[in-house]
Amino acid sequence: MIDRDAALAYLKEHLSEKRLRHSLGCAKTAAKLAVKFGADVEKAYDTGLLHDITREICYEDQLKICAEYGIIVADEERVSAALLHAPTGAAIADKLFHPGADVCSAIRWHTVAKPDMTPLEMSVCLADYIEPTRHFKTVEKLRETAARDVYRALLDALSGTIIHIVRDGEPLCTQTVRARNWLLQTVTGNRGVT
Ligand SMILES: [Fe+2]
Ligand SMILES: [Fe+2]
Repeated sequence: MIDRDAALAYLKEHLSEKRLRHSLGCAKTAAKLAVKFGADVEKAYDTGLLHDITREICYEDQLKICAEYGIIVADEERVSAALLHAPTGAAIADKLFHPGADVCSAIRWHTVAKPDMTPLEMSVCLADYIEPTRHFKTVEKLRETAARDVYRALLDALSGTIIHIVRDGEPLCTQTVRARNWLLQTVTGNRGVT
């Protein structure tokens, strides 16, 4: 477990009040979802707390962090701070709070997701969508689905993101599409749900 008091003090200094509330909401929700996904509850909380640690750093500085830490990202992930904060967040969280490789990986993939996600990675990815301070059109439905089936909820969340990105005429991240296909197989194939 990380030093949560130190992490909170850092986040208070580097995040807006709104994003701090989101991070705390994500931590609590990730811890609850960890029980359902079979992940470590304390690590899920730590990941939720730290996941947006670099979210309010500007694009140019995100690129500098990538260069400094040797972070290699796909071109499609290199287009905005909104995407780059996941890999840079993992690097900065690792440097400052040493949460462990599994937590860092969950921070790394919380935005675009990926196939073969671990229970910890899925817990945080879904928590980021449905934590209590989130307000978007389909969030309540996602919360209801998550109460029944967390895999289905994550599948629906990623499908919604993909639809949204296509509608906006933005490029899709390959990993998100692969993550969605992997979850589709998990939900409809291995677990017998249609
Ligand atoms: Fe994020
Ligand atoms: Fe977030």
